[in-house]
Amino acid sequence: MSNWDERQRAMLEAMGLRVWQKSAAPSELPAAHEVPAPAAAAPMPAERSEPPLARPAAAPPSLALPPAMPPRSAAAVSAPAGPVAQMGWDELRSAVAGCRACGLCEGRKNTVFGVGNEQAHWMIVGEAPGEQEDQQGEPFVGQAGKLLDSMLRAIQLKRAPGTPEQQVFIANTLKCRPPRNRNPEPQELAQCAPFLERQIALVQPRIILAMGRFAVQSLLQSNEAIGRLRGRVHDYQGIPVIVTYHPAYLLRNLLDKARAWEDLCLALDTVQLARPR
Ligand code: URA
Repeated sequence: MSNWDERQRAMLEAMGLRVWQKSAAPSELPAAHEVPAPAAAAPMPAERSEPPLARPAAAPPSLALPPAMPPRSAAAVSAPAGPVAQMGWDELRSAVAGCRACGLCEGRKNTVFGVGNEQAHWMIVGEAPGEQEDQQGEPFVGQAGKLLDSMLRAIQLKRAPGTPEQQVFIANTLKCRPPRNRNPEPQELAQCAPFLERQIALVQPRIILAMGRFAVQSLLQSNEAIGRLRGRVHDYQGIPVIVTYHPAYLLRNLLDKARAWEDLCLALDTVQLARPR
């Protein structure tokens, strides 16, 4: 096996995926429940000439970056209208902590601002805090968060302190937990949107990973299903956005982890193609 194969195997295993190898002895083959679902765009390994779940050598034209992606400067990402748009990090943190713009403030234990490197190249956008996030004041600390950490580890990223290349910034569309983890309501998303917009404007990430339908709604104003939006590069104010499944969904739909892996590969390729800021 080449170094690349070994690295890819390690990455996939970190995500909870087994690698199927043509040369594997029958006893080494994964059990049926471990075999990724056949996807239209990703046939089962046995039908492929390249290694299974291999990273595409080059992005096909349909996956290419938008042609006029400009190099971004501090002014390139326009901030939301209103006072939030002018805030620096400290002021923004205080504004989120004291926000009473919607009814979610009544039931929260903590607001969940976000965590990570303020100059991260990668920004991860999720949905809303759950019970554990509400208790701890940090995003993605429950089961879904553990899977997110594994996914990040698979592409050599992390939430723990590191350089802007290594350490991501993780934020949610909502900063307060909806009661009983119900779906965010449109007016809650609208009230909270300026906070996320300002976070993005301050971080100036090179790429955003939008996880799940509410992240997509907030960033791309689209109600389309994740399955229809993933597999290509979207745009949020000049920043490439990759749409993928929410980790909580992946915990219930294990076979879609293979598709999430493809999304991470697309994101990696996109970052490498993008011009430095
Ligand atoms: N799901 C999310 O989208 N965000 C969290 O912080 C936790 C679970």
